[in-house]
Amino acid sequence: MPKPKIKAFVFDAYGTLFDVHSVIEKCNEMFPGKGKDISGIWRQKQLEYSFLRQLMGRYTTFFEITRDALRYACNEAGAELSNETERELLDSYLKLHHYEETEEVLMKLKSYQTAIFSNGSFDMLSPLVEQSPFASLLDEVLSVDEVKQFKPTPMSYQLVLERLGVRREEVLFMSSNTWDIAGASSFGFYTAWINRQGKGMDELGVKPDYEYGDLRGILNHVK
Ligand code: LAC
Repeated sequence: MPKPKIKAFVFDAYGTLFDVHSVIEKCNEMFPGKGKDISGIWRQKQLEYSFLRQLMGRYTTFFEITRDALRYACNEAGAELSNETERELLDSYLKLHHYEETEEVLMKLKSYQTAIFSNGSFDMLSPLVEQSPFASLLDEVLSVDEVKQFKPTPMSYQLVLERLGVRREEVLFMSSNTWDIAGASSFGFYTAWINRQGKGMDELGVKPDYEYGDLRGILNHVK
């Protein structure tokens, strides 16, 4: 396979640069012993709702979806969610821990375009990125909210080409989420699956071009 001529390194946010399960601590503080269960259902329903709303044509922001998924998760876990606790837990989503290798990797990509491309809405992404040590290392923070089309639709990935002014074969896209890797591969990006948990790839008819245990592996593509 010819070596790709990458011009832009584009990153998914949740699960790839930021650990969505860093909310477990706050969930346990609010609902002792239920944190892991709530966080697991919360993430599962957050993604499910984005897929289902896309299919139904009932787009709403990822922030509202994240709020709705939290409500479902707490109800399922038998945890009574007050308005105040809801606000505190949603606030913790704006302060997720970033993965420790992110800054060192982005430092080595200065001669490329770098961007986040996320289902997250700007009201979630802006505070999250601003509180990270690598905000200045990203050229763009792109949200599907500009086109009201969630990943993995082709229309959503098209936004990356328009905002970065690159061709799809000039993009290396990183995500820890297999559905996102499949969508990006299907669209025509080169893809690096950041398989942090050592899982198997989903059977979606497309495979990642590369698979790494963390972001450091993508430095193989730096000239
Ligand atoms: C993102 C989540 C959905 O798009 O992974 O950042």
